[in-house]
Amino acid sequence: MTNKYYSVKPVLDNKLPQVFIETYGCQMNVSDSEVVLSVLQKCGYALCDKIENADLILLNTCSIRDNAEQRIWGRLENFKILKKKKRTLIVGILGCMAERLKEELLSHQVVDLVAGPDTYRDLPNLIAALTSGDKQINTLLSQEETYADISPVRMDKNGVSAFISIMRGCNNMCSYCVVPYVRGAERSRDPKSIMREARELFENGYKEISLLGQNVDSYHWSNPDNPTHKVSFAELLEMIALIDPKLRVRFSTSHPKDMANSVLYTMAMYQNICNHIHLPVQSGSDAILERMNRKYTRAEYLARVAKIREILPTSTISTDMIAGFCGETEEDHLDSLSIMRDVGYYTAFMFQYSERPNTKAARHYPDDVPAETKARRLNEIIALQNELSLKSNQADIGKEFEVLVEGFSKRSKSDLLGRTSQNKVCIFPAGDHKIGDYVTVKVLSCSSATLKGVEVV
Ligand code: SAH
Ligand code: SF4
Ligand code: F3S
Repeated sequence: MTNKYYSVKPVLDNKLPQVFIETYGCQMNVSDSEVVLSVLQKCGYALCDKIENADLILLNTCSIRDNAEQRIWGRLENFKILKKKKRTLIVGILGCMAERLKEELLSHQVVDLVAGPDTYRDLPNLIAALTSGDKQINTLLSQEETYADISPVRMDKNGVSAFISIMRGCNNMCSYCVVPYVRGAERSRDPKSIMREARELFENGYKEISLLGQNVDSYHWSNPDNPTHKVSFAELLEMIALIDPKLRVRFSTSHPKDMANSVLYTMAMYQNICNHIHLPVQSGSDAILERMNRKYTRAEYLARVAKIREILPTSTISTDMIAGFCGETEEDHLDSLSIMRDVGYYTAFMFQYSERPNTKAARHYPDDVPAETKARRLNEIIALQNELSLKSNQADIGKEFEVLVEGFSKRSKSDLLGRTSQNKVCIFPAGDHKIGDYVTVKVLSCSSATLKGVEVV
């Protein structure tokens, strides 16, 4: 069953050439870095944990907002010193910013190689070709690449939860978003390879798998040898849930326009599919949603939420919010605040709108909300979310939850930290428990970020 290349521990061997990988952006990038490490280990590199020891530094980058890119330019400035100390050091840029900026990155003094998200199999060739003295670049996007046959080498520390990418790219074209340009067209991965990876993780002690895609509800796979054999996202979810009741399954991201009732019913059928849905609304105003090309209205979104509440009454819902999108009026902003209240999100990722070159929004709509207004609106969104998170957590006081232990509390080694099925962080006195245990905990108190409780015996 175990794949020949599979390893739950990165190879640490200071005699081999050393690679240091720094990952920015979303979970898909974290998952991709694990694919990259697998490719590099096969060609003789070992992972190192100190950047000063590296022979090869790879930055897996993000382009989603301007500040994500600015961080990388800043990072490259720091590498000038490292390169002076070690003339043979190779610096490579991977990921979404590599795809977006291509030659512009390659012409930076410290950059030796640039590789886009669909070219990681080519990394050994690109590195080998550097001996010619020329910088190397490959940013081809693929219609097919899913890295299905590459078993990622897990870099996470806890050995309990892991990500599995089930698809790549995005076809949605939200007007503000750079992802379809830098990640290419949407493609779904063969369910057999997803199952194999999930089983191997479980056999290696992992207890929780998060299935990743920009829009998991549009996952669809048909067998090229037998086109009548099709697998939908709800079916895939069920297949993974059936591996073992002690293997928790999460997924992200759900698109409000696509989330099917079949997914909700599948979630209701299996206790190991976690009761949490990340359902980004972005804005509460119909005018803004239209301009964002999100393809749902406020009423349609709220109808989806009502269906979730009906089928999965204990599920939490989280969101992403954008403050200050093109043309956003004060009234539109108030609509965003009110939809947050209407849904009662337990948590949210909240951003100021950042114009991305060449997107539909950049081409058609002026970025006309002043910086101070964007900042003020974002602060109001954050303040409201803190209130909602606290309220959501307070409602859990007195209730019991099954917590999967991920590690120790940052404050105290005698407390363990884990998550409930609803994805809330919960801290409780360790007793005899260890990382990877399921523990039933009664919640006694909370903050806006954390539940605190004791084991139910
Ligand atoms: N596929 C996911 C989101 C991926 S990007 C979805 O559709 O929900 C993660 C989040 O970044 C988005 O949900 C959005 O809130 C934010 N984001 C994307 N582009 C942005 C931009 N140009 N400015 C600010 N935030 C942006
Ligand atoms: Fe971007 Fe929209 Fe695709 Fe999400 S669904 S990645 S926001 S284009
Ligand atoms: Fe993710 Fe950033 Fe790319 S959010 S898909 S790493 S642009």
